[in-house]
Amino acid sequence: MLTVHTVAELRAQVARWKQAGDRIAFVPTMGNLHAGHLQLIARARTAAPRTVASVFVNPLQFGPNEDFERYPRTLPDDRAKLEAAGCDLLFAPDVPEMYPRGRDAFTTVSVPGLNALLDGEFRPGHFDGVATVVSLLFHQVQPDIAVFGEKDWQQLQVIRRMVGDLQMPIAILGHPTARDADGLAMSSRNQYLSADERRVAPEIHRTLVDVTGSLAAGSRDYAGLQQGAMARLSAAGFAPQYVQIRAPNLSDPAPDATEWVVLVAAFLGRTRLIDNRYLCL
Ligand code: PAF
Repeated sequence: MLTVHTVAELRAQVARWKQAGDRIAFVPTMGNLHAGHLQLIARARTAAPRTVASVFVNPLQFGPNEDFERYPRTLPDDRAKLEAAGCDLLFAPDVPEMYPRGRDAFTTVSVPGLNALLDGEFRPGHFDGVATVVSLLFHQVQPDIAVFGEKDWQQLQVIRRMVGDLQMPIAILGHPTARDADGLAMSSRNQYLSADERRVAPEIHRTLVDVTGSLAAGSRDYAGLQQGAMARLSAAGFAPQYVQIRAPNLSDPAPDATEWVVLVAAFLGRTRLIDNRYLCL
């Protein structure tokens, strides 16, 4: 596996592959890779002959009081995992390589509407930071396909809308959330949890299973289901920010809906956890 830190080196290798007629599948990450990320690499490898991964902790998508400084940076370990997973190239730029004129002077890509609801309400600017870095990475890597985890459901909708609106010739693949045996969605932030918090954390998944179970059984009392789930999470020790039942594109469900996604964001101690569950009847 080739590791490059500059856009010039990346472009040179991408040009060689394109000249040879190879398609490229891309997995953008912020590193600290776990089994969920490696599933995305495996999916990418089935989609194209060349797989590129990026590791970049993107300052633009962190709010002033969020965990940018303490976000785990484990590049040597990530590199070994990507190599073992059969990735062809790792792009690991530093902040000046990505934002040479400084982060505040940089052009911003913004997906209106989708960037302001749910997580966007609690993390203002987050999805503009995501859309900006992903669009920059797409220009640098020039992939044919890009793979994203469905745990970040709203992020996936933002990327799909951006790629559609800007007519980027890139197929976006969503991949199901990887979970620990007790149902907790894998996340780099899980390592912030204390042992006690880790025991409680799967209650989010159990709550989602029960809410989708109620929808499958015929309940359409969305407000009641959301309030009940918020109360259940609070009683378990979380500080929930939202439980929302939405259409898969995050609009309000139609009266005759047969497809939903239930989304949750909740703090457990200092750790913010998100998860979701999709249901189609
Ligand atoms: O999902 C992530 O890890 C990040 O939001 C992404 C897509 C790599 C952009 O920084």
